[in-house]
Amino acid sequence: MSNQITLSINNQSISVPAGSTIMEAAQKLGVSVPHFCWHPGLSIAGVCRFCMVKVEGMPKLQIACNTPATEGMKVDTVSAEVKDAHKWALEFHLINHPLDCPICDQAGECELQNYYMKVGKYQSQMEDEKVLKPKALDVGDTLVLDTERCILCSRCVRFEDEVTKTSTLGIFNRGDQATIGTYQGRKIKHNYSYNLADICPVGAFTAKDFRFKCRVWFLKEAKTVCPGCSTGCSVNLFQNSNQREYYRLKPRHNAEVNGHWMCDTGRTMYEHLNASTRLSAPLLNGENVTFHAALQAVSDATKSVSADKVAVVFTAQFTSEEYSAVLNSLKTTLKGTPKVFVWREETETEESFDGILFRGDRNPNTRGMTEVLKQESVGASILKGDFSALANAGAELTLVFGPEVESAYPSLAKALSRFVELKKSVYFGNTLNEVAKKFWLRIPVKTFAEKSGTFVNFNGVAQKLKANPPVYPAVKAVDEYFADLGKLAQSAV
Ligand code: SF4
Ligand code: SF4
Ligand code: FES
Repeated sequence: MSNQITLSINNQSISVPAGSTIMEAAQKLGVSVPHFCWHPGLSIAGVCRFCMVKVEGMPKLQIACNTPATEGMKVDTVSAEVKDAHKWALEFHLINHPLDCPICDQAGECELQNYYMKVGKYQSQMEDEKVLKPKALDVGDTLVLDTERCILCSRCVRFEDEVTKTSTLGIFNRGDQATIGTYQGRKIKHNYSYNLADICPVGAFTAKDFRFKCRVWFLKEAKTVCPGCSTGCSVNLFQNSNQREYYRLKPRHNAEVNGHWMCDTGRTMYEHLNASTRLSAPLLNGENVTFHAALQAVSDATKSVSADKVAVVFTAQFTSEEYSAVLNSLKTTLKGTPKVFVWREETETEESFDGILFRGDRNPNTRGMTEVLKQESVGASILKGDFSALANAGAELTLVFGPEVESAYPSLAKALSRFVELKKSVYFGNTLNEVAKKFWLRIPVKTFAEKSGTFVNFNGVAQKLKANPPVYPAVKAVDEYFADLGKLAQSAV
């Protein structure tokens, strides 16, 4: 027996798995049915009554989100009767919604605004005073709640009940007094709070980290992968490209990796991208030098040592292509394999997992790095709190590839102070870290947002990074530097 059923929506035929709703069938077909309370990552509430459709043979309009699709069903989403139902449902939602749009941070990405432009009943018949409710409530470290703007869709309540299972939110009172709020004395305190601002279709929940910083129409979004842990959530990164300034990350749906969500730790992964925190030029013995001079210094240093006197220290925050480039380039120039070490943060609990997305391995490419080391038949020693294996290696040149996300390495300063003690140590990193200034040579590198390459998550899912315009155009990715080093070596022959 086939598990598929076939129905038609606006005279277009579509097959969906048995058990699907009309809304799911419409989504699959690319037919937009207005909705507020339905969200593909949450249970069905059927409370907003916005998603009305006509089903042939049924006397009244039906809600698409909670009506099962059946074999041979004929659905209409565009007739005058259906459009009129959408207009009136929207009008109902606007009865008590404040006229906040000019001062609301959701403007530009508010579903109420967007639907008003698409299906609004432009001449309101509402004559009564609007019901006033509490505004700008501090409901936790990350969010502000404006209960007057809430349209009582209950998405946030279901998120708290079903995803984080923290059940902090409820809808209190009845009728036009019904109000969204936290239970008495409770605050929203978990690592997934910003998802509430994402799923709230209006400006009731706004993110403290983003509100009033930039109007959304100035932002361009780019698909990328969160570097915050080994889950590697698919995300969109938002940049004001006129200012080359990054403002926020939001989750991008990926059924294989993160579903619809991401964690709050991951939301901070734009902070280290902006110019104010970045190293822009190489430092040789504490002095600014050109990129050419810096690479020449590395090239000269590799010529005067044998492979067994060179140490490479990797962190698992670079792309697979970068690890391959370093190992292949050094094998060629040194005519042998250097000693390879993997630096892990000493406080990390690599195997820990919060049961939703966030993992104790705060590196996005542990698996990719391990695969490259295996492909290149290179054995690596782990440095975790104890750096004696490196100190005793007798290296005369050490190349350290530091973590891009320094906040994931609370013991960074301690580790760096051990590396700077070594003879001729070179640090590839991107921030203005004071300890790292003491390295013999310091070379800035591109961040995950600025380079192409691959991260392989804990589960073996490989995802590509896409290069956005770099904050400092002269700064390159590690694989690009090693391509340049290869050319320098050839030109010297
Ligand atoms: S606060 Fe937002 S998500 Fe929650 S019920 Fe109100 S409109 Fe829906
Ligand atoms: S779970 Fe990990 S990869 Fe996903 S958003 Fe959080 S830090 Fe980023
Ligand atoms: S989306 Fe169907 S009732 Fe709200």
